Amino acid sequence: MHRPGPEAAPATAVAGSAPAGVAPAASTGVAAGAVVSAVRARGVVKRYGGVVALAGVDLEIGTGEVFGIIGPNGAGKSTLFDVLCGITKPTEGEVFLFDRPVNDVPPHEIARQGVARSFQRTAVFGEATVRENLLFGRHAASSHSVLGRILHSAAWRRDRDAFEAKAREVLELTGLTEDQHRPANVLAYGVQRRLAVGIALMNDPRLLFLDEPAAGMNGKESADFVELVRAIEPGRTIVIVEHDMTVISALCRRTLVMVDGRPVTVGPPGEVFRHPEVIEAYLGADDE
Ligand SMILES: Nc1ncnc2c1ncn2[C@@H]1O[C@H](COP(=O)(O)OP(=O)(O)O)[C@@H](O)[C@H]1O
Ligand SMILES: [Mg+2]
Repeated sequence: MHRPGPEAAPATAVAGSAPAGVAPAASTGVAAGAVVSAVRARGVVKRYGGVVALAGVDLEIGTGEVFGIIGPNGAGKSTLFDVLCGITKPTEGEVFLFDRPVNDVPPHEIARQGVARSFQRTAVFGEATVRENLLFGRHAASSHSVLGRILHSAAWRRDRDAFEAKAREVLELTGLTEDQHRPANVLAYGVQRRLAVGIALMNDPRLLFLDEPAAGMNGKESADFVELVRAIEPGRTIVIVEHDMTVISALCRRTLVMVDGRPVTVGPPGEVFRHPEVIEAYLGADDE
């Protein structure tokens, strides 16, 4: 089963865009520019007190892949998402992004290396306009925290032309150009979700994590969302945690299925859905 749409970008295209100064993992001896995987997890366990959210996850996602993570509620998807993007540190095991170990790297530093994420409920500043939200996204990795301060800061004025050019590009990509001067909170739900992705795109990430981006969307909105991901896919690695199988099937060549904190199978969406343990897990989940 192959999804329609363009082929995944070759690994070299992504590796070539690695920012200068990102050192290769000393332990692997991999030369800069020879990145083999965007995301790698080795023996990842996450416990919250007595709760085992992740019971040992090994995983490798290649550069340029659009990779899905699915599973019933409580399977550990969001925990895995948080651990892979470095916002939560594993209890055991190790995570590598572009072959660098990131267990000891703080989230803001990971963000600076071209990694962005959009949460299930990414905060959009409701009273700020679409455009202001995007401009804030550009600064999200900086130490500033208040929108007004950012928009009036010296750094913002200095880089205004670059920021505005980027904002125009993202408005176009996300189909939000006409809505750019509207407050975010008047937009339809699906449009706000596109804005959340747009905010993540402002820093031009080479690795983008999306947690349930299509949650709560109607059919038209999730179809539009699929088109958006196809448009932003070239040159990036995208990891999508999602309930909506249609979205996963449309976008992902490979998906991981999590059940009870364990990876059950990885493969093309059309095949993993036939895996007996996956069928059983979904039939057994009464809250889906
Ligand atoms: N911060 C936390 N504290 C305690 N338990 C948690 C925490 N986060 C997740 N869990 C537990 O870990 C398990 C997996 O949760 P989660 O990763 O949110 O699953 P999913 O996203 O697949 O629905 C659940 O049993 C959940 O209750
Ligand atoms: Mg979740």
